[in-house]
Amino acid sequence: MSDNFFIKNKTAIIVTALTVTSAVGAYLYYSQQQDHQGGDRTSSDKSSKKNEMGEDSKPSSSSKSKKKKKKSKSGSPEAGAAKESKEPHVVPRLTAEVVAGLSESEKEEWASKLKEDGNVEFKQKNYQKAIEFYSAALELKQDPVYYSNRSACYSALDDHQKVIEDTTTAISLKPDYTKCILRRATSYELLEQYEEAMFDLTALTIYGGFSNKSVEQVLERVLRKHSIKIVDGKEKILALPSSATIGSFFGAFSDENALVSEESQGGEAFLYQALNKISSNARDAYEEADVLINQAVTALAAEVGEEEKEKDNKDLYAVALEYSAAFQFLKNDPATAAELINKALAIKPRARAYVFRALINADKSSYEEAMKDFKSAEESDPSSPDVYYHLGQLFYLTGDLDNAEVNFTKAKSLHPDNVYAYIQLACITYKKGQPEEAFEKFTEAKLKFPTSPEIPNYYGEILADKGDIQGALKQFDISARLQEKLDRFSVGALPLINKATVISRESLEKLPEAETLLVKACDLDPKSELARISLAQIKLQNDEVDEAIELFEQSCDLARSIEEKIQAVSFAEASKMQKRIKSDPILTAKIAELMRQSGAL
Ligand SMILES: *[C@@H]1O[C@H](CO)[C@@H](O)[C@H](O)[C@H]1NC(C)=O
Ligand SMILES: *[C@@H]1O[C@H](CO)[C@@H](O)[C@H](O)[C@H]1NC(C)=O
Ligand SMILES: *[C@@H]1O[C@H](CO)[C@@H](O)[C@H](O)[C@H]1NC(C)=O
Repeated sequence: MSDNFFIKNKTAIIVTALTVTSAVGAYLYYSQQQDHQGGDRTSSDKSSKKNEMGEDSKPSSSSKSKKKKKKSKSGSPEAGAAKESKEPHVVPRLTAEVVAGLSESEKEEWASKLKEDGNVEFKQKNYQKAIEFYSAALELKQDPVYYSNRSACYSALDDHQKVIEDTTTAISLKPDYTKCILRRATSYELLEQYEEAMFDLTALTIYGGFSNKSVEQVLERVLRKHSIKIVDGKEKILALPSSATIGSFFGAFSDENALVSEESQGGEAFLYQALNKISSNARDAYEEADVLINQAVTALAAEVGEEEKEKDNKDLYAVALEYSAAFQFLKNDPATAAELINKALAIKPRARAYVFRALINADKSSYEEAMKDFKSAEESDPSSPDVYYHLGQLFYLTGDLDNAEVNFTKAKSLHPDNVYAYIQLACITYKKGQPEEAFEKFTEAKLKFPTSPEIPNYYGEILADKGDIQGALKQFDISARLQEKLDRFSVGALPLINKATVISRESLEKLPEAETLLVKACDLDPKSELARISLAQIKLQNDEVDEAIELFEQSCDLARSIEEKIQAVSFAEASKMQKRIKSDPILTAKIAELMRQSGAL
């Protein structure tokens, strides 16, 4: 092919040689090299240098080109000198003068030839050499393909910054150059510039008509990496979750107010007040209880040293440590929680302390450790309802419904006031495919706990799951009303959130109503990340992207588990990307085109 090129263009080359000697000197020389295919190399060090446009325009390089001009005039001294080298291909030195001396068609043809040489070098994995050829080609023609080709070399050399530079130029010349967009995305991902990678991957899905599943999967992977990086970079704020969450946590345990007496003093008095706050389950009670527990721990630690009081205070000190551990656990600081609970267990091993530790272990998926703790708890107090309820919970979460049922039943018999045991048993029945029996269990529970907002809320969830929307909405309304009447914080905003979710799925017309419910939910439970995430989704549907982003970010801060935080951040980041795509004129036009096509189809 290169021979053909030379033969076809010989005349043109010779004609040009008469007019612009220097340019043609280089061109002719290069073409001869191609003809002989091997053995030759230019004498000077210039050829091994990368050809950079900037360098060529410098005065120093123009003097170099004059030297070259002389050489080519005087025959072919290069050929002799070049024999020492073993490299087959030679990259020509293209100075500004040389380039200026060529016609457009000559430049194009020569550039294409240089590219072919680059491709040969690339195939032989001589990436550096290939880069030189592509660079030379680029000095003759700003072709996006050459940039793309050169970026492939940089990619092979793991020089991702350069990959990004070249692909960016290629894309600016040819916006729908998907090969380059994908290559740039890959480099951005490797350099952990995830937002940029996401932008490119999104563009790819648009150019692919939203039908490329493999690109979508990569996009999801990058979004996740990006979100994890953001969550990792955030300062860890240790705060208690919403009162509804804490309420259901402590609500599942039996009350311990009897452990301490009202007439107590010092550390015990703090503990007394703390336990009272916890059982009051009022909206701000937990923050206060947290402070009181810490005061109890400090005071009791000091009192334990005093010999005359020893025994009792030691036990109370252990109890205070347990509660402190529970609060740290709720604040999502499992390491401190584990430390505190171990300290408590060393002083006085109680069933409940083992249960707390089991929860800490289960939370980090150390199920074997958790089971050991449950066993120790059962041995320490076989009649503790806390043990069976939480063991049941662990079985439930791991999908072992039969064992969960056995343990919940036992928990219910030992602690008949634990409304959650009734709810869990009804849910298990439903999950086992017996909806009618499950509904009966809910009805029974309602008779036993007529003012509990929990029961209608979870009953509503089951009805919604079964597709009985009207029935579900009725239960959510009952639950919300009961919660309003209650002076304690039980389900909090849950029935409002549930209702909003159900109606917003029902029809778009209901979106304003859902929004109103969710705004109310955010007010009622300012720490509910679920309320904020749900409201944000409605805002997105209303095209209020900025509000949505803010709400997603707030829910990330409120979320307790890392996984929930990552999810909230991914929603926020995906919304930001949507905004960025919308402000890109080329992509917006492409989307509009796709919309028209799908409308026409
Ligand atoms: C250079 O570009 C051409 C055209 O897109 C392509 O066929 C060839 O594989 C590319 N070579 C490299 C090394 O990317
Ligand atoms: C999806 O995109 C990737 C990357 O651009 C491409 O390699 C693949 O061929 C595409 N698949 C389809 C079905 O378009
Ligand atoms: C709890 O479940 C486990 C596993 O089935 C079982 O071994 C244990 O006896 C149960 N506890 C009670 C009190 O039923």
